[in-house]
Amino acid sequence: MDFKALVRARYSCRKFEDRPIEQDKLDIIIDAGLAAPSAINSQPVHLWVIQDEKYREELKKCCKFTFNAPCIMVVGYDPEISWVRDYDDKDEGEADSVIFATCLLMQIADLGLGGTYVGDFDPAALKRILPMTKDYEVICMIPCGYPAGGPSIKHSDRKRREDRVTFV
Ligand SMILES: Cc1cc2nc3c(=O)[nH]c(=O)nc-3n(C[C@H](O)[C@H](O)[C@H](O)COP(=O)(O)O)c2cc1C
Repeated sequence: MDFKALVRARYSCRKFEDRPIEQDKLDIIIDAGLAAPSAINSQPVHLWVIQDEKYREELKKCCKFTFNAPCIMVVGYDPEISWVRDYDDKDEGEADSVIFATCLLMQIADLGLGGTYVGDFDPAALKRILPMTKDYEVICMIPCGYPAGGPSIKHSDRKRREDRVTFV
């Protein structure tokens, strides 16, 4: 799909078939995240690809939005590595993580798969379930898989262009 079509085709997918994503497709998705830009090329983002059923079940305790997906990608950054802006001490690790996640989502859509950016989870509970994330700031989860449902009504509910864009 060309990019113009892809950004319009992407939607938050919240219903999935009960079958795993093949490893070759997972590798393509992961490579898209790894190709993302990061501040001063610090590459502080880490990705945990959760397919193990036991962990996916456990993650329901810290997040209402896992949608029984066969794969849950967890995106976070190492605050020891991320770049901090001198002027106001702003840590750009969150921006790096969101861009990384966006690349994952777009690649997921391009492969005909579905996923949703999920920010509504309990980070402390998540760290108890996934102790390997303890030294990271976890920014989002992306439940993903083969779509079994289309976009929600919110997908087509966009504010007016003139209210969101200003030419100066
Ligand atoms: C920062 C952020 C956090 C989000 N968190 C959640 C979430 O916790 N649960 C959920 O179902 N969707 C979540 N979404 C998806 C949005 O609800 C969705 O993008 C929006 O409704 C527009 O729909 P669309 O993605 O289909 O165009 C989140 C999206 C963003 C960008």
